[in-house]
Amino acid sequence: MMDRIIRSLMEKKVLLLAGDIIPVISPLSVLAPREESTGFHLGIDERGRDIFLNPEKLPNMHGVILGTSGSGKSTLARHLILEARESGVKTWVIDPHGEEAYARLFTRRLIITSDRIDLLTATGWDLLEYAGELGRYVELIYGLRGARNVIREIIAECLREQSLEPFKKLANGDPDLERLFDDISRLHGNDYRITELAEQDVYFTLPLMASRELVAFATQVLLLLLHGYMRARGARQRLEMVVVLEEAHVHSPYLLSLFKEVRKWGYGVIAISQLPREFDPRVFQLAGFVIILAGPESYVRDVESLFSLTADERDHVLFSTRGAALFYRQGDPRPRKVFLKLRQAALA
Ligand SMILES: Nc1ncnc2c1ncn2[C@@H]1O[C@H](COP(=O)(O)OP(=O)(O)OP(=O)(O)O)[C@@H](O)[C@H]1O
Ligand SMILES: [Mg+2]
Repeated sequence: MMDRIIRSLMEKKVLLLAGDIIPVISPLSVLAPREESTGFHLGIDERGRDIFLNPEKLPNMHGVILGTSGSGKSTLARHLILEARESGVKTWVIDPHGEEAYARLFTRRLIITSDRIDLLTATGWDLLEYAGELGRYVELIYGLRGARNVIREIIAECLREQSLEPFKKLANGDPDLERLFDDISRLHGNDYRITELAEQDVYFTLPLMASRELVAFATQVLLLLLHGYMRARGARQRLEMVVVLEEAHVHSPYLLSLFKEVRKWGYGVIAISQLPREFDPRVFQLAGFVIILAGPESYVRDVESLFSLTADERDHVLFSTRGAALFYRQGDPRPRKVFLKLRQAALA
């Protein structure tokens, strides 16, 4: 009941914009999940007990890492990549900034636009469903209000013909569509297909001068292609792949749909961002786990308004030195206070 009320409050975005305090995780939530003694080692609690993240034991394998600039989000993500690999889990990083500390963990590094990906082979997707999803996100990313259906039709035509020619013809003379066509034609090509990429460790980045829209669109298509591919393999209890997604707030609408899925497809997206308020708050409620890194007062105040922190929890992320974090697992209203113990190879 309480959950429903909170949800309905949260759907009224205007309340959030007005800065009201709406706790995302209700203190009246269900029983806490059991402590884990397997999975990815995160660190220790205040009594020195080991804390583990076990995505397989959570309702879904996805998570969010929040922290201000320099708080250690990417370092923690690299630690999780190293932990995951040790248990045979494949890893992807989608990093628009091209951070060297990530790149050096990978032998396969793709620069999207130089390395072309086949966007017209969408394994696991029904043609119209894939075209519809692309239409939906293109509309959001490029701010083309009302263009969703037109784009869906054009993309469906391209998928049927296995060529971008129909798009080129229709875009001719329409500046918005031409801009979109330019971006799609910079990304699409025959160098790589999702069927091979999803079976490897891959680091994806974009050229420095890429526009915000191109970065967001490229990332979104990759996520959709992977989604279809993993879904087509069928439900899985075991974690087989981890995707680290930098600048994830841009993809809040997609993450919401992904985190909502009731079945597990054997992969987890770890969404990283500095901006808790840029996410739809339901993303935190639906994520398998959320890790909040320590930071300055204004950031902690933001976090506090989204997660109903006790004074003790707030102090842990406010006054502690680097490496302090709050670790939420879905279904557990109270976070664990963690002191992260990260692998040396994860440090920049
Ligand atoms: N737990 C830690 N212990 C010691 N050093 C750390 C820890 N976490 C991060 N660092 C160091 O802090 C610096 C910043 O970390 P990192 O790049 O991961 O931050 P970030 O949150 O990703 O920042 P940005 O938002 O700018 O990308 C790095 O030099 C990293 O090695
Ligand atoms: Mg970073």
